[in-house]
Amino acid sequence: MISLNNKILKVETSKIRQFNDYARAVGADVILTLGEPDFNTPDEISNEAIKALNEHQTKYGPTPGFLDLRKKICEYEKRMNDFDCTPDEIIITHGSTEALTSALFTMLNPEDEVIVPNPAYPMYRQMVEFMGGKIVTIDTTITNFQITKEQILNALTSKTKAIILTSPNNPTGAVLNDASYNAIYEALKGKDIYVICDDVYNQIIFENRKPSFVRYKDMKDKIIVCQSYSKSYAMPGWRCGYMIANQEFIKHASKIHQYMIVALNTFIQPAMIKALDYDSKDMVESYKERRDYIYKRLVDMGLEVKKPEGAFYIFPSIKKFHISSTDFCKRLTEKYKVAIIPGDCFEADDYIRLSYCVDFETIKTACDRLEQFIKTLGGK
Ligand SMILES: Cc1ncc(COP(=O)(O)O)c(C=O)c1O
Repeated sequence: MISLNNKILKVETSKIRQFNDYARAVGADVILTLGEPDFNTPDEISNEAIKALNEHQTKYGPTPGFLDLRKKICEYEKRMNDFDCTPDEIIITHGSTEALTSALFTMLNPEDEVIVPNPAYPMYRQMVEFMGGKIVTIDTTITNFQITKEQILNALTSKTKAIILTSPNNPTGAVLNDASYNAIYEALKGKDIYVICDDVYNQIIFENRKPSFVRYKDMKDKIIVCQSYSKSYAMPGWRCGYMIANQEFIKHASKIHQYMIVALNTFIQPAMIKALDYDSKDMVESYKERRDYIYKRLVDMGLEVKKPEGAFYIFPSIKKFHISSTDFCKRLTEKYKVAIIPGDCFEADDYIRLSYCVDFETIKTACDRLEQFIKTLGGK
């Protein structure tokens, strides 16, 4: 084999997907692994893409995406988040994944540090390290999944380039409260540090939805929003999202975007415009009902768990059983055919993640079998 890039050899493929594949291979029939909405994309959104295809909108599009879509995003961000931006501060990306990757490529030099509150979505570490940067974690399991000013100050060094905020969070479902946001703002104010808002779940908040860090208007030039259509509009297979950043940052990020994907698929962009007028409140209401059910079941079976305030994940502690999260999940899969994700995948080995974006019957069966399993474990 001809030698490859040394850094790519160290990149791990998604442990979530690895566990999901393993669980299916050993015959799990109740699957609460992936963060994929069980809803279909609403027809009124899909029909816009079908219409565009029938009208042969299949040429190359402009690198940053169509102007009418970028204008619509400005209107949407103002309406939803009171966030002022202009079309030349936006790139239409291949999901939030591409927005995050392009943003990191654009800002990181070797040895630069990125602060990540843990538990966290695993791609952050893989991509930052691939680009030669370093992850500095903050342990939010000791602060109720919130963030204090002290934690940020302890994590800051002269090499800090950015912090990544994910609220609601994957895997915890926690929403950062005003105190956390103010603490982050106070700690970072006046410093040359980017705040990357991975806002993919910020429409799926069950009570008192508020804007993310974009609320701090005086920090606008340092804020990078990475947004997705996958979760809010049940469009994960469409692969669409966007990045918002200051114009100069966008100018440079556009180079990565251009050489990686040229431009987003043209015929899906009219559907992206339509989606921004779609109200996902029925989906959110349905996730909330499932959240209420699964939370109660987990509490009733004696698990220590924080009630999620958004997204569609719940993250109970298994610390009292004194086994690793991988052992726990493997035994549950092999004996009870229920697949959930070990907390180890999110650098939090005392926890397990259940995705409740599946139908009620599946959630109920999962809870029944999980309850039987933990009875065999003892623990206090
Ligand atoms: C926190 C977080 N960020 C980003 C993504 C990727 O989203 P997209 O489908 O837009 O690439 C996910 C997907 O699960 C996620 O959970």
